[in-house]
Amino acid sequence: HTIYLKDYAPTPYRIVTVELDFKILEEKTRVRAQLTIEPRPETEPGTPLVLDGDGLTLDSIAIDGLPLVLSAYLADENGLTLVEPPHRRFVLETEVFLDPAANKKLMGLYRSGGTWCTQCEPEGFRRITYYLDRPDILAPFKVRITAPLAVAPVLLSNGNLIDKGDAGDGLHFALWEDPFPKPSYLFALVAGNLGSITDSFTTMSGRKVDLAIYCTHGKESECLYAMDSLKRSMAWDERRFGREYDLDVFNIVAVSDFNFGAMENKGLNIFNDKLVFASPETASDANYGNIERVIAHEYFHNWTGDRITCRDWFQLCLKEGLTVYRDQEFSSDERSRPVQRIHDVQNLRTLQFPEDGGPLAHPPRPDRYREINNFYTTTVYEKGSEIVRMLSTLLGEAGFRKGMDLYFERHDGDATTIEAFIKVFEDANGVDLAQFAQWYLQAGTPEVTVSDEYDSATQTYRLNLSQKTKPTPNQPDKPPFVIPVRFGLVGPNGSPMGWSGVSGGTVQEDVIVLDEESVTLTFTGVANKPVPSLFRGFSAPVRVVSNMDLETLLFLARHDSDPFNRWDALQTAATRLLSEGAQGRAWTGDAVDALRDALVETVQDPSLDDAFKAQAISLPGEGVIARQIGENVDPDAVARARRQMIRELVAPVGAALERRYEELTISDPYSPDAAQAGRRSLRNGLLSLLVAGTETGGQLAARQYETASNMTDRYAAMAISAHNWTGEAPALLGDFRTRFAGDPLVFDKWLTASAQAPDDGVVERIRATLAAPDFPRTNPNRLRSLLASFVMSNPVQFARADGAGYAMVTEAVAEIDKVNPQVASRILTGFRTLPSLESARQAAGRSALEALRAQHKLSRNSSDIIDRILGN
Ligand code: ARG
Ligand code: ZN
Repeated sequence: HTIYLKDYAPTPYRIVTVELDFKILEEKTRVRAQLTIEPRPETEPGTPLVLDGDGLTLDSIAIDGLPLVLSAYLADENGLTLVEPPHRRFVLETEVFLDPAANKKLMGLYRSGGTWCTQCEPEGFRRITYYLDRPDILAPFKVRITAPLAVAPVLLSNGNLIDKGDAGDGLHFALWEDPFPKPSYLFALVAGNLGSITDSFTTMSGRKVDLAIYCTHGKESECLYAMDSLKRSMAWDERRFGREYDLDVFNIVAVSDFNFGAMENKGLNIFNDKLVFASPETASDANYGNIERVIAHEYFHNWTGDRITCRDWFQLCLKEGLTVYRDQEFSSDERSRPVQRIHDVQNLRTLQFPEDGGPLAHPPRPDRYREINNFYTTTVYEKGSEIVRMLSTLLGEAGFRKGMDLYFERHDGDATTIEAFIKVFEDANGVDLAQFAQWYLQAGTPEVTVSDEYDSATQTYRLNLSQKTKPTPNQPDKPPFVIPVRFGLVGPNGSPMGWSGVSGGTVQEDVIVLDEESVTLTFTGVANKPVPSLFRGFSAPVRVVSNMDLETLLFLARHDSDPFNRWDALQTAATRLLSEGAQGRAWTGDAVDALRDALVETVQDPSLDDAFKAQAISLPGEGVIARQIGENVDPDAVARARRQMIRELVAPVGAALERRYEELTISDPYSPDAAQAGRRSLRNGLLSLLVAGTETGGQLAARQYETASNMTDRYAAMAISAHNWTGEAPALLGDFRTRFAGDPLVFDKWLTASAQAPDDGVVERIRATLAAPDFPRTNPNRLRSLLASFVMSNPVQFARADGAGYAMVTEAVAEIDKVNPQVASRILTGFRTLPSLESARQAAGRSALEALRAQHKLSRNSSDIIDRILGN
């Protein structure tokens, strides 16, 4: 059934304090909970108290120490009801037994590689004990853990350690206290035999915080980069937002079975180990960048998530969009801002735009859901971040900071809403953001159409911008958004062009505020016909429709003072040619020559850094081209056009590119820093062009594979070979697999490269991999590397016209769904692009989903996704 935002109501009772007592033994775990509960002032006597529970069996129950009679309560699969609780403050004591080793959903308390650990967001705590398992119930927690010393010498929970010692019979205990009231989804417990590295951080007010990262024994040295990232994150949040850490300890634990990236539990962040472990031989530059970003993200949640949390799960974007914004800003400050921006926008266009333009589209702040786990989406996270970024663009950096300061001051300790968040910016700046708030409430990517004209006689320049947003599920018509358009007018020689007056719309310094369906701005005193550079820095998450010709786009690619728009002009030019080519409208030789000249010039420009150049020469991916085409997409034609374009681009300059490739070789020892990583990414970008565009590229990649001294170069050589399915590809894949046998995180890289290869054998290869007796079929990282990579990044084979790609995936999902519904439903989201495909592929995909739905009793997670994709 569906849950609606409009039905939100506070609970009749609140939980004042929580004491948990875990006795962890090999066979089972006993959880005793003592909850101090009281009715709210407005609650009528005799109102039942309904606590959530998921799969729990009640062993004993008492109120204020007195066991309850059977008629006083009702316990079933979905929870525990006290029929007539006391109309005063009382202590409810319950006892349940858990079997963490059997918990393969990885929600609640489970065992990963021998370690007991928890994941409670969003609704996992109810699998541990009966509780009001919702984010607006905040309480301080005291947690006692008892476990065998031999198997679990490390015992961790939230907050500060206040006692520990021997508990007899080979057991020991630890007592943790978290003084900060928190919702249950931020509870965490870890017990295991773990190694660790330790360090410390002194906060701006001079408090010393002990830091530790726990991991499997032997992996300690692979945690050093994560520790370094943590210390830089702590310093950054003080510098940039004035936010200081608040407990005596901050612990991170890396586990190998985890449903997502990581979790921000108060004082005890738990991580998927792929986002902690790094060594030059086993992790790529991209892995290092992700570790830094996610360590920062979870740390930043301490203020935006933990101290200020969400009132209900509809508000998820309040903590996630804001915290993604904060981690993106951190990465921009630590590395190159334009490169980071391009990276984030590429990601948005590749993942969020297809979601927002398809059957799974939803507002960043949804108003209904059937399964909340299906709303941890790129729309909530990444579009949510874009909304915060637009606020900062509209208010200016100082105005934005004033709003954030007020947010922390006004809402510290609250479980709050998007409305309250918007309000602090209004109050701090004396502005009205009611229309701006539509970004949170409406789904869909707005399309902004641009046209302009110049009158040399009157030196007048007119710029028309109009917006329209297509219908999305449950939202047929949409009032206009407030769209900040950061812009400049570029003169004939590339220099900025001034104007003496502007009328017809709102312009704040270099930002046009497009808040109506259509705006025409008139600029006077414009000496020459300008080229408009719009949406600088990608100032709004929109698609731009303009009839700017190729020559003008490439002019911007060379001359715009905004690096993002230089990159974007190249992408727009290439996307246009490629999408036309894929629809049978061949590009001209002149067009390819012009694009090539611009690309070569970019690569040779000494003022640009290598990482930027790498992004400039990477052509739009197949998904981006498909979105541009919009409907009736034939993935084969898209892939063919892309390959053909690369051949034509590279043909006359192959030798020069290869020389440049050789020059970029690095002889210094490996460092993950931005400069070295940028150089490697440019070199590998050139390799990718050479492999796709020349006869000898395949051998070049094979040589790089053999001689590589780090994972970045070795993986790039293998993945590029696989993606182009060169003659050498099978041998490289084979070698990689045996060379790193025994390292699960490197095995994931093999699974990904193998699943993304577009050869006709890939479907059978994936089947065989899955069927192998030793394939770890309950590990989310393995399953995602194999199957999510395939559905998301192998459109040619996933959407095969014969339906073999779909069939393999739905058969696999039917099995996975029985074990771990969250992993299953995530894989199914790959079907979201079905409506944009040509009819035969669309029909094959639909019938595969219909068969899956008809033949299996699926989880709520998976049936929700299928129903929405099929339109019911
Ligand atoms: N709050 C975590 C983070 O963004 C992610 C939790 C994901 N939970 C989920 N059910 N998908 O850092
Ligand atoms: Zn988060």
